[in-house]
Amino acid sequence: MKKILFGLLLGICLPLVAAYLYVGSGAMPVATKGNPLPLEKYLARKALHAAMDPEIGKPSPLPANEANFLAGAKVYQAQCAVCHGQLGELETAIAKGMFPHPPQLLPPKKGVMDDPVGEIYWKVKNGIRLTGMPGYSKSLTDSEMWQVSLLLLHADKVSASVQQALRK
Ligand code: HEC
Repeated sequence: MKKILFGLLLGICLPLVAAYLYVGSGAMPVATKGNPLPLEKYLARKALHAAMDPEIGKPSPLPANEANFLAGAKVYQAQCAVCHGQLGELETAIAKGMFPHPPQLLPPKKGVMDDPVGEIYWKVKNGIRLTGMPGYSKSLTDSEMWQVSLLLLHADKVSASVQQALRK
């Protein structure tokens, strides 16, 4: 019995000590350059989906029309383009230096056009911790968050005037 307890204790303590020594050794990646740690992406994605999936089924309370796309483009230019880029722009200087990189959300990239609109809205409202993606619940109205979500969902189908509003 004593041996089993000792084994159990060792089994719990050794990985904790090893993790502590690793973190203190300076070998853990902390700068924005470099690749994710093993399992980092998988675990982050799993946690995000577990938290968000029960809430993302709701439809937009606003219709997908020209007025809402234009309003969404205005929000996008003011709040999002600095990281996610404007139409026809390659990665922004800020995006290049971030870990993880903010994805391009406008054509020709596919962005989030195949995601449910409720998922885009959830990310805009709540943000994604430790990635740099801000949550906007304190700085945008609910309508503005839906408008920018609708814009991103339909970014490959918007009119010439909305496209114009998404350029410099
Ligand atoms: C300071 C930089 C920054 C700003 C500003 C920013 N984002 Fe992000 N955003 C990110 C990063 C980084 C990610 C990637 C997060 C990840 O890898 O999980 C991201 C992810 C996203 C995603 C998920 C993309 C996907 O492929 O699932 C959406 C949608 C999004 N942002 C929308 C917006 C909108 C809309 C705005 C403006 C209202 C905005 N972001 C402003 C940095 C930013």
